[in-house]
Amino acid sequence: MEYSVKSGSPEKQRTACVVVGVFEPRRLSTAAEQLDQATGGMISAVVRRGDMEGKLGQTLLLHTNADTAMTDRILLVGCGKEREFNEKNYRATVATAADTLNQTGAMEAACYLPELHLKGRDIPWKVRQAVLAVEEALYRFDQLKSKKDTERRPLRRLILHVPSRRDLNDGEQAMREGIAIAGGVGLAKDLGNLPGNICTPAYLAKKAADLTKHQERLEVEVLEEAQMEELGMGALLSVSRGSRQPAKLIVMRYRGGAEGEKPIVLVGKGLTFDAGGISLKPAAAMDEMKYDMCGGASVFGTLAAAMELALPLNLIGVVPSSENLPDGAANKPGDVVTSMSGQTIEVLNTDAEGRLILADALTYSERFDPETVIDIATLTGACVVALGSHASGLLGNHPPLVNDLLAAGRESSDRAWELPLWDDYQEQLKSPFADMANIGGKEGGTITAGCFLSRFTRKFRWAHLDIAGTAWRSGEKKGSTGRPVPLLVQYLLDRVAEK
Ligand code: BES
Ligand code: MN
Ligand code: ZN
Repeated sequence: MEYSVKSGSPEKQRTACVVVGVFEPRRLSTAAEQLDQATGGMISAVVRRGDMEGKLGQTLLLHTNADTAMTDRILLVGCGKEREFNEKNYRATVATAADTLNQTGAMEAACYLPELHLKGRDIPWKVRQAVLAVEEALYRFDQLKSKKDTERRPLRRLILHVPSRRDLNDGEQAMREGIAIAGGVGLAKDLGNLPGNICTPAYLAKKAADLTKHQERLEVEVLEEAQMEELGMGALLSVSRGSRQPAKLIVMRYRGGAEGEKPIVLVGKGLTFDAGGISLKPAAAMDEMKYDMCGGASVFGTLAAAMELALPLNLIGVVPSSENLPDGAANKPGDVVTSMSGQTIEVLNTDAEGRLILADALTYSERFDPETVIDIATLTGACVVALGSHASGLLGNHPPLVNDLLAAGRESSDRAWELPLWDDYQEQLKSPFADMANIGGKEGGTITAGCFLSRFTRKFRWAHLDIAGTAWRSGEKKGSTGRPVPLLVQYLLDRVAEK
């Protein structure tokens, strides 16, 4: 999609379609009002006849016919009650407009929805979120279908309208950010939606290499199992031993900042299929464990967005990638493995594999002398129980970092919620045979997973995002969400603004 930002009144737009909002009950937005006057009361007449109540999600397409100095069509979009108009309703309204436009003959439209008043949110926010909502609405994952149902006249160009010329600069910057974030979200979604037989560790490594095309500031290195062996990554390798796909440790270095400036390191769990290993998962919905690499995918997406925006930061993405399958060589409950840090781990449940591969990837990150390390992982089913699918779980060893991530989540509407990383929970990881066990029992499963990781992050500021509930949707609209790319890019934008 091609986007632009413009100001100017709706009755003067010569375009295929102008999109304006109507609130419930039958109350015209400012832009709708202006169009109404210019058309001699066309919109108020239609509304009076009862064809547009203004309910959220309602749409009505009008053809203007007569006047060539004007738009060909007007799309009325219901916004719900004005008093209840919130962020969610705003995004839903924009998404409905995009969906509808895509099915009409209008391939270009001027959208006045960013001009709607939304409490606490400025024009740039509304422009950014509009781009994200449109891309979300139009996203399709059909690369594996032999017949694709494409629209005959899809929406190609969307002009986002802002109230005054003074808003243009900020609006355009927000549009660029929105496009970059949406690109990163799309990449993360595609990788997530790909099945385990296609998206293997080697496939992810290849994708990382592809990212370097036309990107002089990005350098990719892929560590093979032999190199991991040499580094002593016994925890990571114990997981991949049960699989025929060799593990890869993908390292992506983006040098956007000053030389010598400490990097922000993003570590993403890249488990391309998690059957549980010998502690085999039940069959129901096991296909969804193809999404167990979504943490890694969010690292790809975030780096792609950061590069698109040429952010002046040094960033390193680290994606440990493996499968977790049952096999004669796989981890067995009770096995004791030695991590790169030297700490030994009793593998009481082979399904708690994410923390094993992350442990070594986190230890490996020490060599970058990081400013901060953030890991992102579909780590625990317990997180879905605790927070559902609305917030990612967040734990960390440095309160300011945790607060920055919480704030970035609120700003990007990709929220996280903190859980306590108290020492009290560390007790649950005690093992009679090794330095620690890889599980902490039934209670506080997301927290004990965080405690486990914290034993490999003592040398730097670190936070952990558990995205088990947020990275994909189940059911009818099954698919990867691209979260938490918006949160992470916002975090990076905030760091740039801070400088
Ligand atoms: N990838 C899963 C976590 C998961 C489960 C994410 C369900 C989303 C939905 C992870 O590797 C895992 O299996 N975790 C175990 C840990 C347990 C054995 C302590 C879990 O959550 O059941
Ligand atoms: Mn598992
Ligand atoms: Zn897993």
